[in-house]
Amino acid sequence: MNNSRIVEDIKSKLDIVDLISGYVQLKKSGQNWKGLCPFHSEKTPSFTVSQSKQIFHCFGCGSGGDIITFISKYENLSFGETLEILAKKSGIPLPKTDIDRKFIEKNEKIRRAMAIAADYFRTNLRGAELASAYLRKRGIEEEFVDRFGIGYAPAGWSNLIAHLRSQGFADSVIKEAGLAAVGTKGLYDMFRHRIIFPINSSGGSLVAFGGRALDDSSPKYINSPETPVFKKSETLFGLHLAKDEIRHRKFVLIAEGYLDVIVCHQYGFGNAVAPLGTALTSSHLQKLRSLTNRVVLIFDGDSAGKEAARRSLPLVCQGKLFTRILLLPDSEDPDSFLRKYGADAFNQLIDRAKTAVDFLFGIAGEEKTETVREALTLIAGMDDLLLADEMLAEVSEKAKINESVIREEFRKMKRKSKAGKAAADPGRKSEKYNEEYLLLSLVLSFPEKTGQVLSLLDMGDIRDETVRSLFGKLAACDGHRDSSSLLDDAGERERAIISQLCVNPGFDPEEVEVDRNIRDCCRRIKKRKLDE
Ligand code: UTP
Ligand code: MN
Repeated sequence: MNNSRIVEDIKSKLDIVDLISGYVQLKKSGQNWKGLCPFHSEKTPSFTVSQSKQIFHCFGCGSGGDIITFISKYENLSFGETLEILAKKSGIPLPKTDIDRKFIEKNEKIRRAMAIAADYFRTNLRGAELASAYLRKRGIEEEFVDRFGIGYAPAGWSNLIAHLRSQGFADSVIKEAGLAAVGTKGLYDMFRHRIIFPINSSGGSLVAFGGRALDDSSPKYINSPETPVFKKSETLFGLHLAKDEIRHRKFVLIAEGYLDVIVCHQYGFGNAVAPLGTALTSSHLQKLRSLTNRVVLIFDGDSAGKEAARRSLPLVCQGKLFTRILLLPDSEDPDSFLRKYGADAFNQLIDRAKTAVDFLFGIAGEEKTETVREALTLIAGMDDLLLADEMLAEVSEKAKINESVIREEFRKMKRKSKAGKAAADPGRKSEKYNEEYLLLSLVLSFPEKTGQVLSLLDMGDIRDETVRSLFGKLAACDGHRDSSSLLDDAGERERAIISQLCVNPGFDPEEVEVDRNIRDCCRRIKKRKLDE
């Protein structure tokens, strides 16, 4: 979609302070507006909005951007979906190119086929005694069969295909929707004689199905393949139903299976979700981050569960999330545990869920130093320094080793890993190149100076990759871009830098001597080059 003009039009119609005020309580503070950041938990406001720049930045978690970034982050939406919402708000219609239209039409057909299939499966459940009996045996109540839209795919090779064809769907669409596969004798139904669990995006639209066998035939579950509307590694089962409860309870429960989620909801744990038979990914966590930063991961108590829990630690500790691990007793999963012991017992387990450090020491064998090392490696990978600090204290307590010893060991480890990282990626040391940031900041605040800066600057002298790429973008269009248009195609780090410099340029725009500062910065950058 080449819609930069439209994006500009939409952005110019909407005011960022008005828009964000609908989500966050903002107070005027100097040039900017401030409030509590919706993307991480904080008690004093570090979420800052600049009305003049139409940009937000949080000094706590580093997130930042324009209204598009804000809405897509807050509502968990793609760029296109966000644009549609903002277009509506601003009253500017979105024109569509031919390619867009074809693409949208095809996806629309896929979505319609999926919706009709879901209806078909639900209708079939009613007449299917065997399937209803299975759900009863698993203890799923009527209300939750409805809420989750559970259905039944009848036995036979082409029931759904025939139904969809009769509704005018082409075979290509049926196949692309992942509802049928191609065999030697042509198309056949993907889901046969299975209980069907519809899978929805966080926004609530149907994107896939999971189908469980009614007996112990293999495979136990079949899931839709990835389709234009379904990305497995980004989808969490139950999230569209759990969103409000996650916000309300201020934490999310992550279980392993479909039935676990449904039974959790049934027992009053409406904040439960599950990945789709895969390990948790950073995209999953990304979806959750705008809802909460507290996670309880539930694993089966067997050795496979323990290993899965251990493997998930680096990921969950990295994302500025407060994560607790709950290993269920014996080989129970949430479904079997809840039905055996009830909600109160489950609640007690949740209360006693372990921190990452506690969990590591809990499963540790004799080798204490190994466990300490594993914990320190984990902490070294974290970017939330406060959280990391708390965890260091915890390691010392659990290992019964003096805190100063732990911290010294940790520093050594960090130095080593930093040296490794710096060698592999010199751009990482960039925080030191203040003159580069200041120069970029000057250009963002005084766009009319861009040409002058570009003429003084040798692009190759810029050490920070992100700053260099931003200057490159400015040069590519002779400086005819402002901070807001730079955001449109910015990567994550680029966006963080732009938004930070916009709300906190590092100088007082009223007082600063622009030309002198530009000359100074350029001179320092040149001198640095010569010194080398
Ligand atoms: P489990 O094997 O733990 O099953 O798989 P479960 O969820 O407890 O299912 P029940 O209680 O026996 O019905 C956990 C999850 O892994 C995925 C599914 O998402 C399942 O919910 N899975 C499992 C598959 O995708 N395919 C399989 O063959 C098995
Ligand atoms: Mn189970």
